[in-house]
Amino acid sequence: MKRKILVTGGTGFIGSHTVVELQQSGYEVVIVDNLSNSNADVVDGIEKITGIRPKFVKLDCNDKEGLRALFAQEKNIQGIIHFAASKAVGESVQKPMLYYRNNLVSLMNIMDLMPEFGVKGFVFSSSCTVYGEPDVNPVDETAPVKPALCPYGNTKQIAEEIIHDASISGVPYKSIILRYFNPIGAHPSAEIGELPNGVPQNLLPYVTQAAMGIRKELSVFGDDYNTPDGSCIRDYIYVVDLAKAHVKALDLMLDDKSKDNVETFNLGTGRGVSVLELIRTFEKVTGVPVPHKIVGRREGDIEKVWGAVEKANNVLGWKAQSTLEETLESAWKWQLKLREKGLM
Ligand code: WQD
Repeated sequence: MKRKILVTGGTGFIGSHTVVELQQSGYEVVIVDNLSNSNADVVDGIEKITGIRPKFVKLDCNDKEGLRALFAQEKNIQGIIHFAASKAVGESVQKPMLYYRNNLVSLMNIMDLMPEFGVKGFVFSSSCTVYGEPDVNPVDETAPVKPALCPYGNTKQIAEEIIHDASISGVPYKSIILRYFNPIGAHPSAEIGELPNGVPQNLLPYVTQAAMGIRKELSVFGDDYNTPDGSCIRDYIYVVDLAKAHVKALDLMLDDKSKDNVETFNLGTGRGVSVLELIRTFEKVTGVPVPHKIVGRREGDIEKVWGAVEKANNVLGWKAQSTLEETLESAWKWQLKLREKGLM
């Protein structure tokens, strides 16, 4: 009997790649998504890759009764990976109440229902944003959580506290918090990838669209930082490597091997890469120039952050495998596929 996992936000960028890895690891997957920032044809892409069509239910995780009915209908859901959340840094500053309500009410609905239906393991999608500007890089899981720079980041911090407090209250399930650094790239099949709505906020989708000529040129937000080439440094992790870590997290809990009731892991490569280095590497790998110009700094940007990943390596038994070159190549292959399909 396959172990059944509920993936909320499963038609999203990281969610869809995680569904693929779960299926290929023998899990049965049910996707719940309200399609507010993704579309249902992602399910077709997943099926093309794995040959298994995951069950998809269009539902908003703020609809607690709808979720309860789903749990009752799906019976033995053993684990949940909770991706569903609003995640645009800039938008969260404009619409804080939407972010607090959507991200926290949906989380609490899921957490309320897990004991009712015997769910054993809960994986929460968090972010390195909780570290703010770290005092030391690479930043490890014991680093202090700093005051959030935006409501989006604050919802991740508050969510982690809610999970810890629920655990202390004696909930009958284990939790693993995964702090992502910067997820980038697309599945090697180019059947699924990152599909930002409108003008991309994140770096790599903008790079590939500028390389494709969809955008006139990329604005590099500042080259006057205290870094080797003056541009910001991040830990860019291949989304497929990131997805595989979620399977490891579920295995750990469902095989009763997780030590504590709540465990937190950084998911990164352990290597910092600057914006200008990423652009140069992209051009080298693809042979395609990226029109770009240096402009002023972006409000709220962190100067440099990259992750210490020894805990994930040793406890989760997971390590990022892909090089930056392979990851950038996957993003370009995806951009070419979107053009071929007339989608962009
Ligand atoms: C990366 C670097 C920019 C766009 C955010 C969230 C994080 C996660 C990922 C959700 C920065 C520079 C970017 C551009 C640029 N989101 N940049 N020109 O800000 O590190 O992280 O997105 O889970 O939680 O905080 O990612 O890709 O926006 O920026 O120069 O057009 O690229 O200044 O240095 P960020 P990003």
